[in-house]
Amino acid sequence: AIEKTYLMIKPDGVKRQVIGDIVDRFERRGFELKAAKLIVPSREVAEAHYAEHADKPFFGELVDFITSGPVFAMVWEGESVISLARIMMGATKPSESQPGTIRGDYAVTISENVIHGSDSAESAEREIALWFGSELA
Ligand code: CMP
Repeated sequence: AIEKTYLMIKPDGVKRQVIGDIVDRFERRGFELKAAKLIVPSREVAEAHYAEHADKPFFGELVDFITSGPVFAMVWEGESVISLARIMMGATKPSESQPGTIRGDYAVTISENVIHGSDSAESAEREIALWFGSELA
């Protein structure tokens, strides 16, 4: 089915100037960029975005990191884009992210891992509404 997903290049990816490469990968795959903005997330939005991790020991560190500089927030559309984008991103754990994937090519730590992508249709709808407003979701 045609889906929408929320993808976000994290502050480490923006600093390393890989926005262009990452956008190119999704365009080449055939997905369509529907919305994008470069912003420093507020603590409120960051905490809401990561609400499911609120009781994890790394939650504070996660929110500090994601608010530490600009992120590139995006909405992408296309066939099965939610699951295919996650395959293109690679696994969260560096020891499991394959070369050729975004994390496998750019990341060596679990926390500074370049990109976030929605993990389900429900997450995508919630995250698009949170970052871009409910008209887009
Ligand atoms: P993301 O896909 O943005 O969703 C949750 C994030 O939590 C994940 O990417 C990682 O960056 C981060 N994360 C997961 N596990 C750990 C951990 N053990 N320590 C620090 N950060 C983590």
